[in-house]
Amino acid sequence: MRVLIIGSGGRESAFAWSINKSPKLEALYCAPGNPGTATLAKNLDINIKDFNAIKRTVIENGIGLVIVGPEEPLVNGLGDFFKSDDQLKDILFIGPGRQGAQLEGSKEFAKEFMERWSIPTASYKSFSKSSITEAEKFLQTLRAPYVLKADGLAAGKGVVIPDNIDDAVRELHSMLDGKFGPAGDKVVIEEYLHGIELSVFVLTDGKDYLILPEAKDYKRIGDGDTGLNTGGMGAVSPVPFADEKFMKKVEERIIKPTIEGLKGDGIKYTGFIFIGLMNCGGDPYVIEYNVRMGDPETEAVLPRIKSDMLAHLIAAARGELGAETIVKDDRQAMTLVTVSGGYPEEYVKGFVIKGLEELKEVNLFHAGTKSLDGQIVTAGGRVLAITALDNNIECCRKILYREVSSVSYEGIYYRTDIGSDLMHY
Ligand code: AMP
Ligand code: GLY
Repeated sequence: MRVLIIGSGGRESAFAWSINKSPKLEALYCAPGNPGTATLAKNLDINIKDFNAIKRTVIENGIGLVIVGPEEPLVNGLGDFFKSDDQLKDILFIGPGRQGAQLEGSKEFAKEFMERWSIPTASYKSFSKSSITEAEKFLQTLRAPYVLKADGLAAGKGVVIPDNIDDAVRELHSMLDGKFGPAGDKVVIEEYLHGIELSVFVLTDGKDYLILPEAKDYKRIGDGDTGLNTGGMGAVSPVPFADEKFMKKVEERIIKPTIEGLKGDGIKYTGFIFIGLMNCGGDPYVIEYNVRMGDPETEAVLPRIKSDMLAHLIAAARGELGAETIVKDDRQAMTLVTVSGGYPEEYVKGFVIKGLEELKEVNLFHAGTKSLDGQIVTAGGRVLAITALDNNIECCRKILYREVSSVSYEGIYYRTDIGSDLMHY
């Protein structure tokens, strides 16, 4: 199989690494990829917003399977573009069409979907500028903290959780006044769920599904989960509190009704469903759906899949997932992300990264890097993701922090506490 991965971050680097192990792989391409994927695949420098450029690439390179990493092309209809094009319609494709991608593209759509299919989630109401008075009244009925979500895609920044009513009302106005652009034309206000978060990943062909290893990511920039939200500073898999009993509840109460719900709504869905969950006293509630894998969760999840990931993906895209069995590595995986100084706010790019050749006991996944004059330089907020696989969290922490100390670039920053909250579960 000739495979094209779309995207350029740590997640896509992990996909490239995982797929590269498959005997079914004939040739691997990444668009646009990064210096990490370049060691495993041929990078193709195309603009992934340009669907016709993707089409030309697929045809020129005889691609048989396309895997879409980020959500944006899916929400913008890349799946439908493939299905409706005579030359592309038989190419295997991992990712839902525009309608299925609404699970991530619209918070209101996702909440209505969960309500319709009795999937446990926080109670909510959705408002627009014309109903701002009702929104204020609704806020008054809730207890702090308040959860306000811009309906549309807002580069991962669209959720705000003020801890007092004055800030909540101010935030509501600012969102409906365009703080997040059109993504905030509607705002979902929901009940705050108290609990501990984790993420469950499902690969489905619309009928059957495989449950991938679960993970927990570390969203805040600072140790002890403090400071600004980021795309993710680290991840662990497995998650110690996701025991068999809990995961059974997730499967029965959330995964099965989600797949049945998509079918019931007439939405053909092939691809990943990333379910952000809150474990509230042993019961799972959905915080959000994403229609792709997580980043950096993928960098911890894929190293724990012992079976052939490419075979699973091909089967999913062919609608034959029922015949597949996933084999998981029981060991602990842990991923640490190094970022640029200043991230998630302003930061400077272009610093030379040194010491990568010293990394021996970890998997190195490039995230925001690029090649410049024969050197690797920083090119994004999240720069590198490194993953250790060992017996337990303590061992993984030792390996990761020992290894990361040999990497340097100006302004390098990483959290020092990844996994430490889970050591005594
Ligand atoms: P989302 O983009 O929907 O994942 O939200 C971002 C983060 O906000 C989540 O990862 C949670 O930490 C938090 N969050 C979202 N919804 C809720 C909720 N209803 N209760 C508590 N925390 C929430
Ligand atoms: N790490 C969270 C995400 O990928 O959305």
